[in-house]
Amino acid sequence: MLGVSFRPGRLNQGLGTDALRAFLGHYFRDMRLSALFLDVAAFNRRAQRVYEKCGFQRCGERWGDAQADSAGVFRHQEFEGVRALFRWDYGLIRPLLFDMVLRRREWEQRRDQDWEQRVARTGLAGLRERP
Ligand SMILES: CC(C)(COP(=O)(O)OP(=O)(O)OC[C@H]1O[C@@H](n2cnc3c(N)ncnc32)[C@H](O)[C@@H]1OP(=O)(O)O)[C@@H](O)C(=O)NCCC(=O)NCCS
Repeated sequence: MLGVSFRPGRLNQGLGTDALRAFLGHYFRDMRLSALFLDVAAFNRRAQRVYEKCGFQRCGERWGDAQADSAGVFRHQEFEGVRALFRWDYGLIRPLLFDMVLRRREWEQRRDQDWEQRVARTGLAGLRERP
């Protein structure tokens, strides 16, 4: 299991995307694994955006484990807009989870496209070796 979590003061600075891209290079290029699956809470738009930027695509959805409603999703007015992303379950709540997948072939295609764009942008025609 892999988890990524930054302190509130370090969010939205590109660190999560950079860290995940570095990990994916190791996972697909060095370890030669064929696919990476993950799940992400439906309400977590920022994390979903990071996974999409790295090439992950949605492949399913399901309800997560039941937990206490400590944030008060079903009590406080402010959460009304996201309530559909949770299910009330005998006094506990279950978050809706999206399953996502990235396969090595897609990662390789994306890496090749990025590399070609970089070569074209910088005009370094002799730069043919990928890092
Ligand atoms: C999820 C996490 C690791 C992402 O790392 P990060 O460094 O904050 O993310 P980045 O800065 O690389 O990218 C964030 C992207 O989400 C976008 N974003 C931020 N808030 C958003 C929102 N409410 N809705 C949609 N997109 C949002 C940003 O604009 C950015 O996309 P862009 O580059 O296209 O503009 C980090 O936010 C975190 O630690 N969150 C708390 C723990 C967590 O949720 N972990 C993941 C569990 S699956």
